[in-house]
Amino acid sequence: MENNNTRRNFLKQTAILSTGTIIGSSLFNSAFASESALKLENQIPELDTMDFQGNYSLPKLPYAYDALEPHIDKMTMEIHYSKHHQAYVTNLNKAIETLDKNVVEHSKSLESIFGKMSKFPEAIRNNGGGHYNHSLFWSLMKPNGGGTPKGKLGDAITSTFGSFDEFKKQFSDASMKRFGSGWAWLVVQDGKLVIGSTANQDNPLMSLRGKGLKGKPVLALDVWEHAYYLKNQNRRADYIASFWNVVNWEAAETLFNS
Ligand SMILES: [Fe+2]
Repeated sequence: MENNNTRRNFLKQTAILSTGTIIGSSLFNSAFASESALKLENQIPELDTMDFQGNYSLPKLPYAYDALEPHIDKMTMEIHYSKHHQAYVTNLNKAIETLDKNVVEHSKSLESIFGKMSKFPEAIRNNGGGHYNHSLFWSLMKPNGGGTPKGKLGDAITSTFGSFDEFKKQFSDASMKRFGSGWAWLVVQDGKLVIGSTANQDNPLMSLRGKGLKGKPVLALDVWEHAYYLKNQNRRADYIASFWNVVNWEAAETLFNS
């Protein structure tokens, strides 16, 4: 029963923080049930953990496929969400089935798995990261988004990077320079905002050998070609420029403040 409750919570809430915090359930609840009445006003984060008992499910989008037009096109959103993200979920569940039962029972959340990533199979790393990263990504965009961050996050960005424009430049540069497939991130690392990127479906919560980016995610941008190729083909820079028009800064600030 407890597991069922946790599962239900996950179905309702999905963007997860390193601490196990999840961006408000309303983001994902409102989705397709009410496309014309998007409920983005209630973005208060709720504490939860991501269950690791198998049977992960695709979270609902907080908006319709075409809601981010003209910046992110409908077909890309539909395929990205219903095909790519779904594949990570499906393959994550398959990967979990291959694990020793004791390992699964003692693994409480994807965050806890990321903290000891090297002890798990590659399939958990790739698909667990894919599921987590995309869940976060959906919540960090919204119709009529963009603009500039307010509050403590806005202040921190200005004090760290000198100006919001300089922050955008550095984040865009990190997005452009990620070779091949991966993600660009704004994270809190040792109490400071840091921009960086990760390869494939890795994220800054994963304890991996080497000098990879570490920290608590605040903003994430998927720079896999599947995120933009239908609309922008090889022009990643155009996709990055579009992203700034749909950023959900309220959600980012919620992550920052948590
Ligand atoms: Fe993606």
